[in-house]
Amino acid sequence: MSSDKIDQISKEIESASASNKEELEAYRMRYISKKSVVGELFAAMKDIAAEEKKSYGQQVNEVKQLAAAKFKELIDQVNQQENQNRGLDIDLTLPPTQVPLGGIHPLTATRHRIIEIFERIGFNLSEGPEIEDDWHNFTALNFPENHPAREMQDTFFIEKNPDITLRTHTSSVQVRVMESEKPPIRTLSPGRVFRNEAISARAHCIFHQVEGLYVDENVSFADLKQTLYHFAKEMFGQNTKIRFRPSYFPFTEPSAEIDISCLICGGEGCNICKGTGWVEIGGSGMVDPNVLENCGIDSQKYTGFAFGMGIERIAMLKYQINDLRLFTENDIRFLKQFRPLL
Ligand code: DAH
Repeated sequence: MSSDKIDQISKEIESASASNKEELEAYRMRYISKKSVVGELFAAMKDIAAEEKKSYGQQVNEVKQLAAAKFKELIDQVNQQENQNRGLDIDLTLPPTQVPLGGIHPLTATRHRIIEIFERIGFNLSEGPEIEDDWHNFTALNFPENHPAREMQDTFFIEKNPDITLRTHTSSVQVRVMESEKPPIRTLSPGRVFRNEAISARAHCIFHQVEGLYVDENVSFADLKQTLYHFAKEMFGQNTKIRFRPSYFPFTEPSAEIDISCLICGGEGCNICKGTGWVEIGGSGMVDPNVLENCGIDSQKYTGFAFGMGIERIAMLKYQINDLRLFTENDIRFLKQFRPLL
């Protein structure tokens, strides 16, 4: 076996290439395996003259190492190539897969909007506990002991004597704010309230209210009216009208129910407003001096107005939803409709 032959094989190996697994295997068969040309060089050893054996052996070993090094290089090349090809499997012109986005719950969106409107006219936010004592939910708000008005509110009791209840309205937060802050007070208190009522399209045992309270010197009913008028126009549209109906709440005097002109028929009369042209959104009034005094505020110096509105009610009017239960059923077909946001 001449060293020319060995040189030739070395050159072949150096210039060998492989672009896929099959070519790699062909290379292995030709230069690495037992039956390869390199294998043949080893086999030829026996025919080499004794004095040349050493140098021949060295040369063949070098070729063997060269073949092995090249093989490793080719394996890397082919692997890299395959990875690249796999990357190109992605079709960049295809439309992206749709990732379903969650929406904002209509009650949350409504609450945000209410807060936004009142914040702009100087109301801050306050919160109170959902589990309330009798003082904050009733007594401080001028509900006399054993007065039927307490029964009116279908209270859930947690403990009796002394009574601990789930709050029946957010008016309890009024008391907490007035007890801890000095006038001027301008605050908005949204929150969850609880009443022991059968669940129907119009009533639920858990719902949401937003309470407003303004206490300062010289606050008048005109301020109450203007504030709610502003709110109604911002919330429901500039053509919305507002009407106050005399009413009774123990904690306000005088008291009034708040109606807005029907959004559906614009006041003409339809089945939503039951032909009257008006829909109710909450209660309001001038804070009863007894309530101010109960909370340590001088009723000679200060006056105030308060209001409480149902958030579900406002959302139902705003989005024309006719069943209160839809808010809590988590039916995706209902919730999907409130995307994008308000
Ligand atoms: N708390 C009353 C209710 O739950 C609503 C209400 C009426 C709140 C008059 C007020 C108010 O602040 O002044 O029905």
